[in-house]
Amino acid sequence: MPSPFLTPGSIAQANDVALLHLRRDQTIPTILRATDSEHDGYKEGKVSNTRFGSFPHSTLINQPWGSQIVASKVDTGSRGRKPSNKRKAEELEASATTTGAEDDSSSVKKPEAAASGFLHLTYPTPESWTLSLPHRTQVVYTPDYSYILHRLRARAGATVIEAGAGSGSFTHAAVRAVFNGYPNEESATKKRRLGKVCSFEFHEQRAGRVKEEISEHELDGLVEVTHRDVYEDGFLLGDPKTGRSPKASAIFLDLPAPWLALKHLVRKPASGIESPLDPSSTAYLCTFSPCLEQVERTVRLMRELGWLDITMVEVNHNRIEVKRERIGLDCEGVRGATVFPKSVDEALSKLLTDDERAKRLRQAHLEGTRVNPPSQEDIAGEPKDQSTPTYNLGRLVHRTESEIKTHTSYLVFAILPRDWSEEDEQKCRQKWPSDKVEEEPKKATKSRKQQKKEFKELRLQEQKEEQEEKEEQATENSEA
Ligand SMILES: C[S@@+](CC[C@H](N)C(=O)[O-])C[C@H]1O[C@@H](n2cnc3c(N)ncnc32)[C@H](O)[C@@H]1O
Repeated sequence: MPSPFLTPGSIAQANDVALLHLRRDQTIPTILRATDSEHDGYKEGKVSNTRFGSFPHSTLINQPWGSQIVASKVDTGSRGRKPSNKRKAEELEASATTTGAEDDSSSVKKPEAAASGFLHLTYPTPESWTLSLPHRTQVVYTPDYSYILHRLRARAGATVIEAGAGSGSFTHAAVRAVFNGYPNEESATKKRRLGKVCSFEFHEQRAGRVKEEISEHELDGLVEVTHRDVYEDGFLLGDPKTGRSPKASAIFLDLPAPWLALKHLVRKPASGIESPLDPSSTAYLCTFSPCLEQVERTVRLMRELGWLDITMVEVNHNRIEVKRERIGLDCEGVRGATVFPKSVDEALSKLLTDDERAKRLRQAHLEGTRVNPPSQEDIAGEPKDQSTPTYNLGRLVHRTESEIKTHTSYLVFAILPRDWSEEDEQKCRQKWPSDKVEEEPKKATKSRKQQKKEFKELRLQEQKEEQEEKEEQATENSEA
């Protein structure tokens, strides 16, 4: 079945992973199922309960992605109340003709719309998954992984090695970058190499959970998760010594000690086993480390092992809000403006006006008369500038938004040139024979004596012309 991460189609199908979008910063991932053993007890089948109401999955399945779904009236008090054995037996009998309990929606009550509450049904993307996935470790966020995948040249058809898999955030972004078809598709011919992610994780439970998620997300065959200590056992698939090489062209190491894994990422491993790198392509490597000490150790070993073009980058992703700030006494009643003197002159003029008004009030009090309220001009001081359009009024200011979720580390990039054998060299020489390059005909060079002679003649010629010019000038002057 196609993965909703890669080819979601237009309709949400049963068993698809979906994201229930409640608001900008709140999304709940779920697997769409009419019924689910975990949700026995709800008459409506599988239900997602949110702060904006309850949503039976029967109201989500077969709806177009992006639809707004209204909450339903669900008796949440019955949660976890399993049906009695007698009822269960009756239900099983009734549904005996249907296929599989998971897809059985015959015994599910038709949901009734609630008075309020809704959500949007969205298909998953690596970006939204990163923000909603169950965190088991620190994860790589979108600002980092988009840059990393770009620098690793992770494009359609490439093979990426990743260690460790952690919570699978990078895994999902990497598989989308290299995806160019499903392994079981008819169009996947032997000629075309399919993109793949080979993911390694040392922690058993985490490796197991990533495997489960990969299956739930229909990414089997595109992501291969191996439970492995890569420091010890390297990156071959299957058996660490005799297994298959992933033939990777891109490697991402998010490990506490990446330098311990580097010994396996060579063209000719010392132990004589196969290299995990693609011999016909340059290998692009990135390590992700939070401390400079880790970076130093990694870079030192990279140099020893022949990695080239080593660079370090820190991605600092900030959203900058730019706006016009309006300050001044003439901004009375303007939304968002600060009604405060914008200059010493304006403050002084306000003081003088206030002083003048106080004097008039005192005088009027003594005389027992009334004082008119101050005019708009008295308050604002200088008349408003009518020629400047409203959007151009005020001072241009900016501030950075601090709430963007990211966990920055130092990214070290390096490349290892492709394997180059004597045979490759010979083939290359035959194709582009350097000894047959036609040389440009050499220009005849002049002797030093000849050059001096020519220079003298040139100088004499110039002096003669100068003399003639002077004489002409003198005759013109005498005639005048
Ligand atoms: C920070 S997490 C990786 C997060 C992951 N990149 C993501 O985006 O979700 C680091 C992972 O490396 C794993 N790890 C540590 N040492 C390892 C080793 N020697 N071999 C394989 N995995 C290892 C840890 O178990 C941990 O899950």
